[in-house]
Amino acid sequence: MRLKFQSPTGMHDILEDDYGYYEKINTVVENIAGSYSFKRIETPILEQRELFSKGIGLSTDIVKKEIFTLRTKGGNYLALRPEGTAPIVRAYIEHGMKNLPKPVKLWHSGPYFRHEKPQSGRFRQFWQFGLEILGEESSAIDAEIVQIAYSIFKDLKIKNIGIEVNSIGASCCRPYYKKLLVSYLRSRAGNLCVNCKRKVKENPLRILDCKQEKCQKISSEAPQTIDHLCSDCRKHFKEFLEFLDELELPYNLNPHLVRGLDYYTRTVFEFFVQEKKKDSSELTTIALAGGGRYDDLVKLLGGKPTPAVGIAGGIDRIILLMKERALKPAQKPKPKVFLAQLGNLAKRKTLKLAEEFRKAKIPFYSSLGRDSLSVQLNIANKIGVQYSLIFGQKEALANSIIIREMKTGKQQEVDLVKVVNEIKKKIKK
Ligand code: HAM
Repeated sequence: MRLKFQSPTGMHDILEDDYGYYEKINTVVENIAGSYSFKRIETPILEQRELFSKGIGLSTDIVKKEIFTLRTKGGNYLALRPEGTAPIVRAYIEHGMKNLPKPVKLWHSGPYFRHEKPQSGRFRQFWQFGLEILGEESSAIDAEIVQIAYSIFKDLKIKNIGIEVNSIGASCCRPYYKKLLVSYLRSRAGNLCVNCKRKVKENPLRILDCKQEKCQKISSEAPQTIDHLCSDCRKHFKEFLEFLDELELPYNLNPHLVRGLDYYTRTVFEFFVQEKKKDSSELTTIALAGGGRYDDLVKLLGGKPTPAVGIAGGIDRIILLMKERALKPAQKPKPKVFLAQLGNLAKRKTLKLAEEFRKAKIPFYSSLGRDSLSVQLNIANKIGVQYSLIFGQKEALANSIIIREMKTGKQQEVDLVKVVNEIKKKIKK
């Protein structure tokens, strides 16, 4: 049957079963971010469109093809945020956070939007958690961010995670490297895919991580960023790798890792897993998190020059992986008792009794719209509660209630004032 309304393409509801995974991931991130004294920040879902065209870069796929924009009645162009770093930097500048003790550490978690072709693990509305550290240039901070992200995956019990790292230099050495790369790519442009042919002029670095076989062949012989870093960038990267070694983190240097946002300088990294494709033995690489250093972004967006580094993780992809690997979500407390009632007086008293159970933190279930006892006990059985409390007209008048053990059908009448304590004792056993 075709439904009259469905969720928009590439956007999905989060139902109870999935919520347990969201909660688990957010709790792990919150705990780890808390240990490192990160402060939580949430920015609006909508921002000025220009924040992203300036921050992420006009020639990136995100800005060129994937951004959702709208025009307000006042004629301003706003965009649904496609990522969290530019908005956080905007907030950092707007709230004068430069005056806070350095480094400023911020974490966030929420929905993001990219108009991509939906497929497994790729959505138009997706959730990310992210961690940003502003105000420190040292490569020890880059290593700290990688270490934190690694701990998050470790606490989520996600094994066999790969980390790829690279340095793409900065304004001191990247322009020269770009020239070299463009001249190499021009000499082979005829063999590049259509997409990459266009990128030679606009965004040559992105050609390095094109997944098309013919482009990969060309990029495998291309000049590499790390061979053309200036001495400062090389030193920064070398130290970063030494810190990672010290931390015994399982990383690989991938000279083709460039990332899809223009604000990166120096260090870039990605966390990924390799999983078997459905119904095939072929392996597919799933990027679970990515980030890097963005030393020029605060200045670019109107603030004082401030070095910074951060990472974001794709919550939806992590959930898909956790389900695939049968990892457990957060457990929700199940109802312990069912409150059944017969007649209006009993309904009124049940409403009051519910409040007593809430205060005692005993989760309960009731179906106040039903009048038949057998229908209510049937629901109680389906939910799987151990006890039902039956409030008949007689009991309501006598200020008592019946406790029914669902498994045995054994019933016992108790004073209404004592019932919460009685249930407490019984569920403790
Ligand atoms: P990103 O690599 O674009 O980086 O996104 C981070 C993660 O979000 C990806 O590794 C992936 O798991 C997930 N993700 C991205 N797009 C989608 C999608 N369409 N559907 C599902 N999941 C997706 C950033 O966004 C940067 N802001 C990270 C950063 C923080 N850099 C510095 N600080």
